Amino acid sequence: MVAYKSKVVEPISLPSRERRERALEAAGYNVFNLASEDVFVDLLTDSGTGAMSDAQWAALVRGDEAYAGSRSFDRLASAVRDVMGFEYVVPTHQGRGAENVLYGTLLSEGDVVPNNTHFDTTRAHVANQGAEPIDCPTPGAFDPSLEAPFKGDLSLEHAREVVDEVGADRVPVVIQTITNNSTAGQPVSVENTRRVRAFADEIDATFVIDACRFAENAAFVRQREPDFADDVAIDEIVREQLSHADAVVMSGKKDGLVNAGGFVATDDPDLFDRCKQRAILYEGFPTYGGMAGRDLAAMAVGLREAVDASYVEDRLESVQTLASLLEDVGVPIYRPVGGHAVYLDAGEALSHLSPSAFPGQALVCELYREGGVRGVELGSFAFPGTERPELVRLAVPRRTYHREHFEHVAETAEAVLESATTVAGLELASEPTMPEIRHFTAELEPRSTPSTSN
Ligand code: F0G
Repeated sequence: MVAYKSKVVEPISLPSRERRERALEAAGYNVFNLASEDVFVDLLTDSGTGAMSDAQWAALVRGDEAYAGSRSFDRLASAVRDVMGFEYVVPTHQGRGAENVLYGTLLSEGDVVPNNTHFDTTRAHVANQGAEPIDCPTPGAFDPSLEAPFKGDLSLEHAREVVDEVGADRVPVVIQTITNNSTAGQPVSVENTRRVRAFADEIDATFVIDACRFAENAAFVRQREPDFADDVAIDEIVREQLSHADAVVMSGKKDGLVNAGGFVATDDPDLFDRCKQRAILYEGFPTYGGMAGRDLAAMAVGLREAVDASYVEDRLESVQTLASLLEDVGVPIYRPVGGHAVYLDAGEALSHLSPSAFPGQALVCELYREGGVRGVELGSFAFPGTERPELVRLAVPRRTYHREHFEHVAETAEAVLESATTVAGLELASEPTMPEIRHFTAELEPRSTPSTSN
C-alpha cells in the first residue's frame, strides 16, 4: 500500500530520439557520462537519489553546524543507538568514506577478506589496503532462475576453504553485505548472520556488516525467515541481525534515506578510537565527519523512518511492481526480485552476444536510446575477470517514481527486445588503470559486426 504523497515535484521530460542518440555517442556508450537532464527515468542507482520526507526537510533547517559537539550529531548518535543498537558512531561523507575509515584501520598488506559478495567500492577499498577480496556467495546465487529465499547469504563452506588455504592469521575481517547488492539485491537471513558470527569467533576475526540496506533486508527476513513471523517488528529484526556484528559500515544514501552521508558504528571503544583517528585525517572532526550538521540531522530522522513497516513494505512492493510489469512483457529478470532493484538478465535477452561484446552494457545503451531509461551494467563490463551472469540493474530510488514511470520502463524494454537480434554489442575504446572501478569511466564503441556466442 502506497505510504506517501507528493509535496514537492521536479519536472522531467523525454528528450528527442535524435538528442538521445547524440548524447549516447558523446558519452562513449557509458551512461555514467550522460547529463541527468538527458535522462527521462533514472534508475542508475538507488543511492542518494530518493525523496526526503517533510520531517527530514524540517530537521534539515534545524541542523546544528557547530564544528564540534553538534546537537545534530547527538541526534544521529541516538538514532544509530535506537535503530541499529550501536553505542559509537563515526560519521563519514558517504559509504565509501566509512569503508576507507574502517578497512584502513583493520586491514594490512597480504590479508584476505571473505564477503558474501563485495560491492565495487568495497572490493576497491580492500584491495587498496593490499588485501585480497574474496567473494563467497551461497551456491546458486549467480543462477538468475533459481527460486530461493536467501540467495544473498554468505557460503560458510567457501569461507572455511579460504581460511584453510591461507591460514586464519591472514583473515582478520569477514564482511557480510545486507542486502547483497552485487548479487541482485538478494537478502541475507539472520540465521546466516548468526553462523558468520560464530565463524568469525572461531578464527578470531572482526565481523563487519555492510548495512547499507539493513531495513530492506529486515523486511525480507520478516516475510521469509520462519523464526521471524509477520508479527516481529522490523526494528527488532534489524537490532537482532546487526547485534552479531562487531562493526557496521553504512551508506546513509540508501536506508538512511538521505542524499549524502554515511558512518561506521561499533560497540567496541578501542575500534571506535582507532576509527576516529583515521576519520580526522580523511573525513573531518568526529562529530561531523564529512557531513554538514543539517545532513546529520536529516539522516537521524531517515534511519527511524526506514524501519517503519509501512515505509519499507511499500518500498519492496514498488520494486516488485516494476518487476511484474517487466515480466508481463516477457523481459527475463533475475529471480526472486531483490530489495532495491530489478536485475535484467542481459545474457538471456541478448543471447546472441558473447560476454566480450558486453551484452549487459549493450542492453543499458539500448534502454537509454529507446526510452531515455538509465540503468547500470553489473556483468562482465563492471566485474572483469569474474564469472557472473550478465545483469543490468534497474535500481529504484526511494519514494520517487510511480507506476506510470515503471510502465514506461517496461514498454521501453519490450521495444528493445523486439529488435534484440540487431544489437551488435560493444567494445572498449579506453579504460582507466583500476580494473575494479573501470565501468565508471571507461568508454566504449559499437562493434561493426555482432560477436556471437555460438
Ligand atoms: N556498500 C554497498 C553494498 C553499496 O551498495 C554501496 C554503494 C557502498 C557500499 C558505498 O556507498 O556510494 O555511499 O559511497 N552503492 C551505490 C550503488 C553507489 O549504486 O549501488 P557510497
